[in-house]
Amino acid sequence: MSPPAGNHFSLDGLAVPFEGGETLMAAATRAGQYVPHLCWHPTLGQSGACRLCIVSVDGRMAAACTTPAAAGQVVENRRPDIDARRRMLLQMLFVEGNHFCPSCEKSGDCLLQATGYEMGMTGPQFEEFYPKRAVDASHPDTWIDFNRCIQCKLCVRASHEIDHKDVFAIGGHGIDSHLLVNSPSGQLGDSVFSADDFAATVCPVGAILPKRRGFVVPIGERRFDRAAISEMPATRKEADDGPR
Ligand code: FES
Repeated sequence: MSPPAGNHFSLDGLAVPFEGGETLMAAATRAGQYVPHLCWHPTLGQSGACRLCIVSVDGRMAAACTTPAAAGQVVENRRPDIDARRRMLLQMLFVEGNHFCPSCEKSGDCLLQATGYEMGMTGPQFEEFYPKRAVDASHPDTWIDFNRCIQCKLCVRASHEIDHKDVFAIGGHGIDSHLLVNSPSGQLGDSVFSADDFAATVCPVGAILPKRRGFVVPIGERRFDRAAISEMPATRKEADDGPR
């Protein structure tokens, strides 16, 4: 199909309008189109950490969340071979941490789990790492399970850009990179973090969770239990996690 004219690009054959400065992800989401992602959030700056949003732009692979939209671009999103790459990324993420969905408070509300279902992931494919990472339960209202962190940096950016506290950072390199808490002891309870922070609610998986609020919404009635992630209006889906 020939590219649409004007301030539109083609997304899997659909003409998507965009505004100046918008990324492919932002424009597609505003148009109600689902581009798989883990580290993107409409209220936060770009990261490009997870690479789940890779799309083909005029034949070249690019991250939709960091690539500016331009008139006439031909973008391919849900192509089977691109979804296969996404599935492999997800499989690597699942084995790198400890993601035991049936016992996780975030099940049914987890972006990693929902995206795994969407990509047709049926098993880990790779050997499990089974890391042994300490849980930080030092804060009175919030706890961190580092075994579930996917290093998307959403909490890092939320704490910096919205909360203006810089409670979180990613430290280390490669396989040793990990989430850090900025406090004298490295413990959350020793930081300026508050349960009212946006960083307290932005975690897409079950790594940062409130205390004393387990399974308030029953399993089976949560947002990704009700509809596949690709079927939910994208703006609503992200707004669920927006700053309060
Ligand atoms: Fe684009 Fe993570 S959503 S790299």
